[in-house]
Amino acid sequence: MSDIKALAFSGSTRKDSWNGKLINEVAHLAEEKGITVTRLHLNDYPLPIYNGDLEERDGLPTTAIELQNLFNAHNILLIATPEYNGFFPALLKNTLDWTSRPTDTQGASASFTGKPVGLFAASPGRLGGIRALGHLRSQMADLGAIVSGTGVSVGEAHNAFDANGKLTSEPLIDMIDSQLAALMTQTA
Ligand SMILES: Cc1cc2nc3c(=O)[nH]c(=O)nc-3n(C[C@H](O)[C@H](O)[C@H](O)COP(=O)(O)O)c2cc1C
Repeated sequence: MSDIKALAFSGSTRKDSWNGKLINEVAHLAEEKGITVTRLHLNDYPLPIYNGDLEERDGLPTTAIELQNLFNAHNILLIATPEYNGFFPALLKNTLDWTSRPTDTQGASASFTGKPVGLFAASPGRLGGIRALGHLRSQMADLGAIVSGTGVSVGEAHNAFDANGKLTSEPLIDMIDSQLAALMTQTA
């Protein structure tokens, strides 16, 4: 058992989300490597769309502070993103925008600076959300995170899981495993 703690979440809160299934599988594979995984559901942390006036008036929403604390308490972030019109979704952007804001106790982007992040994407399309993955990679790097590899995308996601939500492609599982192994070497 390692003392590495990973926070795993999906940029889709849809009930039958492919990215939800994918991040569950990533979390399961991480646990098999001895990583302690917390599965975060963004539905549990609702945030208004970022607005500077709102922040000036009320400060950060409690949920944003709670998310910052959660990010801070983990050595690795594991994120699965859907692709909406070639980009990662507004939910993810809004979550990153609020949680990158400085507070009395930490500077801007401090929850991400130097933190190893593994990125994943799933889509019913053949490209598997690879464009969203690229944009998210650039976003996370901009926040100071250490983005491991190029990420893993799952195309034709509707054919990728069995009835129990398990990934059926061994090469894909191997790619996720390699990504996780690389992430483990990046934790201090
Ligand atoms: C507004 C919108 C835009 C989309 N754009 C893309 C796209 O650019 N590429 C793609 O592969 N799928 C696209 N899709 C399809 C999503 O990949 C699909 O809805 C997927 O199931 C969403 O992820 P989820 O299953 O995790 O919720 C789009 C869906 C929506 C609602």
